[in-house]
Amino acid sequence: AATVRYEAENAPATCDGTIDSNHAGFSGTGFCNARNAVGAALQFTVSASVGTAAVLVVRYANGTTTNRPADVFVNGTLLQTLPFAGTGAWTTWSGSTLTFNAITGNNTIRFSPTTANGLANIDLIDF
Ligand code: GCU
Repeated sequence: AATVRYEAENAPATCDGTIDSNHAGFSGTGFCNARNAVGAALQFTVSASVGTAAVLVVRYANGTTTNRPADVFVNGTLLQTLPFAGTGAWTTWSGSTLTFNAITGNNTIRFSPTTANGLANIDLIDF
C-alpha cells in the first residue's frame, strides 16, 4: 500500500508536551517536544488495510549526545525499546525503522520515554 504520513501535530496523535516549530527541517507545521520526564509519551494511530508484518519509519531529532530511549507499545503491548540516538543537532532529523505485526484497521503506536530526559523531538511516522 502507499505510504501515509502521520504528523505528530495532527490529531489523533497525542503529544504529552508541546508542538514546537523552532528547529527547522520538520515536516508539516511542527513536531512533538514531549516533556522531559519518564513516561511523557507521544502516541500515533496508524491504519493498516490488512493485518500483516509491517514496517514504519519514525522521524526524530536529538540534539544531545545522549540516547533518548523509548519503549514502543503497539496496541498496548510492549514491542521493543528504541534508542533515539543523538542526531548531531536539533535541526538534523533522522529516521528509525520499526517492524511490527499490524492488525487490520487502527493500530496505536506509543513512544514512552524510559529516562528523565524524555523523548527526542519527534516529527512524524511514515507508514
Ligand atoms: C532544547 C530544545 C528542545 C528539546 C529540549 C530537550 O530545549 O530546544 O527542542 O526538546 O532541548 O532537551 O528535550
